[in-house]
Amino acid sequence: MLFEVAKTSDIPEGEARRFVVDRIEIAVANLGNGQFLAVDDICSHAEASLSEGEVDTDRETIECPRHGSTFDLRSGKPKTLPATVPIAIFPVKVEGETILIELEDR
Ligand code: FES
Repeated sequence: MLFEVAKTSDIPEGEARRFVVDRIEIAVANLGNGQFLAVDDICSHAEASLSEGEVDTDRETIECPRHGSTFDLRSGKPKTLPATVPIAIFPVKVEGETILIELEDR
């Protein structure tokens, strides 16, 4: 099911923002050139909001603000310790100015 989460202008390039969609906390990152990627907002290591971390638009990663693990925004896999468990990724669709996220029916 597709959910409308934000306008493209809500997320500055090179940053991420947190949105709650269907009670799931999602971090949406703006990689520039109209590319947006969405992952779980909660770090898999402990309680931290990934949308408050730094986005690397070249490596396509987001860094946890708490202990510094970086996660691949396309696969959700941690690239550096201490996190070892992947985070969920969500398919993103951009229609005009609108960012939509696909969530599985539950
Ligand atoms: S809470 Fe994210 S790396 Fe520890």
